Amino acid sequence: MRRAIFPGSFDPLTNGHLDVIERAAPLFDEMIIAVLNNPDKNPMFTIDERVGMIEKIIAAMKHNGCRLIVDSFSGLTAEFARSKGATAIVRGIRAVSDYEYELRMALMNRKLEPEIETVFFMADEEYSYVSSTLMKQVFLLGGRVDGLIPPLVEAKMRAKLRDKAGSSN
Ligand code: PNS
Repeated sequence: MRRAIFPGSFDPLTNGHLDVIERAAPLFDEMIIAVLNNPDKNPMFTIDERVGMIEKIIAAMKHNGCRLIVDSFSGLTAEFARSKGATAIVRGIRAVSDYEYELRMALMNRKLEPEIETVFFMADEEYSYVSSTLMKQVFLLGGRVDGLIPPLVEAKMRAKLRDKAGSSN
């Protein structure tokens, strides 16, 4: 059984993440999309909201026989991967600027868990500039993000904005 984890903040999931999931899925029997519960950050979506959205979105995806599971975790990615019996950590690389950070993480994770290999997937160039942070920023300032995030995520972002406007009235 080839099991991988795809860890990230996913605040929110973007089409770039989906592209990586689609590319990685044929290589594994099971992939756990692992949402980091990071108390230091001030996320737009709660862990449950993120997990719920991703579950709905991947249910409609082609995944070439790979079982896709969504889970959340706290603490070390390498430790979570080991606890799940995963042999690979999937990460996406958009541009050279991602490389240094990803290399440091991959080497640290290898130091922590030498049996677990980090595997990088090159996201489609169409998404090379797409990040969760940029999507939130553009959306909150009224810019268009259609085609860059799943429609469900956009609808939930819109609802968040409405809730925020409602609570500040
Ligand atoms: O989507 P992101 O924010 O780029 O994902 C980063 C993530 C969650 C993969 C990274 O921050 C992480 O692994 N955090 C967990 C803590 C950890 O294991 N740190 C050491 C990694 S070298």
